[in-house]
Amino acid sequence: MQAETRVFSDREELARAAARRWLDIYRESVARHGAFYVALAGGSTPRRLYRILACPDISAAVEWQRVHFFFGDERAVPPDHPESNFGMARETLLEHVPVPEGNVHRMETELRGMDAVASRYESLLTDIVPAGGEGIPQLDLILLGIGPDGHTASLFPGTDILQQTGRYVAPVYVEQKACWRVSVTLPVIEEARHVLFLVAGEEKQPVVKQLLTDPGGAPVYPVQMPHYRGSVELYLDAAAAGPELSTEQALQT
Ligand code: 6PG
Repeated sequence: MQAETRVFSDREELARAAARRWLDIYRESVARHGAFYVALAGGSTPRRLYRILACPDISAAVEWQRVHFFFGDERAVPPDHPESNFGMARETLLEHVPVPEGNVHRMETELRGMDAVASRYESLLTDIVPAGGEGIPQLDLILLGIGPDGHTASLFPGTDILQQTGRYVAPVYVEQKACWRVSVTLPVIEEARHVLFLVAGEEKQPVVKQLLTDPGGAPVYPVQMPHYRGSVELYLDAAAAGPELSTEQALQT
């Protein structure tokens, strides 16, 4: 996986740099086609980034009516559940900025029938997001995290969704978490114009080491499986990067 890698001293510096990059890509996208189609990541690392984007000085620079929010994945819980990725984004960002409600597209995973939930979300993606090559919805930016097992979105090791190329959104039962999730599939990640990974914490070091030491090698982890066609950037804090990488060391891996 070829990625432009940057290492930051801590989570705060990582989040601030990610906010600057988010704004860069927002501006590029609006200049290109008058809108910004962005998929948010779940988990804990993006929280600080979302809070920074909601700050008045940054928020005032964004024409929120041009922004369409999607989600890379969602857990099978209601939107007000502590585990909800949508709920986390709403609490940290969405309820603090004037983005039209109709521009926030969450996965309705509280409903029964994960397959139907995934199919409806796929229709939403293809209806709203302009298609890139081969008719695949082309997000301007997809924010992603990486788990200690090398998963990204809900593409976990050993799950069937890793072979799912006929659908853009699919349900997945994650044994490791004993729960259902709905996630975008590899084609959507591959098609995104920009992919920005936010990775923090010492527990991520083994995965990061693999990504950086063998970028062209055969995939070991799900995050290495997509044939990324857009730009790929990896933002690390020092804890995830490990002692070999100095902070603010821009590497082309
Ligand atoms: C989720 C995310 C998942 C997350 C990674 C990293 O729903 O949990 O989609 O892929 O990004 O597990 O999570 P942290 O940011 O909490 O380390």
